[in-house]
Amino acid sequence: MAKREVDEISGVEDTGHEWDGIKELDNPLPRWWLYVMYACIVWAIGYWIVMPAWPTLNGYTKGVFAYSERAKTDADVANGQAARAPMFKKLMATPIEQVNANADLRNFAIEAGRATFNDNCSTCHGAGGQGAAGYPSLADNVWLWDGSFAGIEQTINYGIRSGHDQARLSQMPSYGKDALLNAEQINDLTDYVMTLSKMPGADAGKAARGAQLFAENCVSCHGASGTGDPLQGAPNLTDKEYLYGNSREAIHGQIYNGNGGVMPTWEAKLSPETVKSLVVYVHSLGGGK
Ligand code: HEC
Ligand code: HEC
Repeated sequence: MAKREVDEISGVEDTGHEWDGIKELDNPLPRWWLYVMYACIVWAIGYWIVMPAWPTLNGYTKGVFAYSERAKTDADVANGQAARAPMFKKLMATPIEQVNANADLRNFAIEAGRATFNDNCSTCHGAGGQGAAGYPSLADNVWLWDGSFAGIEQTINYGIRSGHDQARLSQMPSYGKDALLNAEQINDLTDYVMTLSKMPGADAGKAARGAQLFAENCVSCHGASGTGDPLQGAPNLTDKEYLYGNSREAIHGQIYNGNGGVMPTWEAKLSPETVKSLVVYVHSLGGGK
């Protein structure tokens, strides 16, 4: 036991510990500090009794209120579903063309559709459906395929080139990769397609030759004047909305490769109620047909 001494200046006894001539005084803890600590102990004991606290062999002490964040969330979800059920029922009972006439039902469908869209569709189509190269914008009124309510519903349910046996199908040939046309012909066609949407930089002589090739190879899908065919998902080439980009390279690339975008099928993943609300939402984005 170290020898305790009384410090001359403060009159307080030290603890008997000494480090290089520095001694530790044995002052009592400040009162306020002690009281706070006692209060914390009392609070902790109360908390253990009231709230879930200690692990046990097969679970945990539930506390007198049996409070559970998870049970609360489950109940909230169930309540939310129950609250929405009558509206979903009404949505299913209303022909889709008439949903927009009922402001409450329309708002409900759009909000439900937006939530599903953000969770499932915005990865490809972008937030708000603005699209990206290869992923069509859904926020404009330009449609590759049928943009009516029924058409959008079919696209969402079965997809495009998705492998589902009711999927939308069509395939632009790969004119370059499969050597259906030679490099010069593909260049001529590129210049002609550029003139269709009045893109600057097209060579008039090449475009004139391209027009002939277009008439021979492309009109069965894109139409005689290049305005496209929604039955085959063939884009309108005369507008300024490009699926693969508004540049010579993008047009050349598509004629060379004949890409076909894949849109998944959602029939098995989303309930009919959810799909219907999505259709109303997507239709509302750009003004469907
Ligand atoms: C994996 C990417 C991907 C996801 C996820 C996706 N899509 Fe698509 N979607 C596409 C592609 C690619 C196309 C264009 C296919 C083509 O080139 O014809 C498309 C086309 C569409 C079209 C047709 C557009 C038109 O102009 O006719 C609609 C409508 C559509 N998607 C809605 C949705 C909805 C609603 C969801 C969410 C449930 C969704 N998509 C999720 C990739 C996706
Ligand atoms: C069998 C039908 C078919 C034929 C024939 C066809 N196309 Fe296409 N074309 C399509 C489809 C379908 C798409 C859209 C591809 C997609 O959705 O991914 C497309 C897309 C395009 C695009 C991209 C448009 C954009 O918005 O980015 C260009 C350019 C194009 N075609 C040019 C041509 C030219 C030039 C020819 C003739 C040499 C031709 N196509 C022949 C079906 C066809």
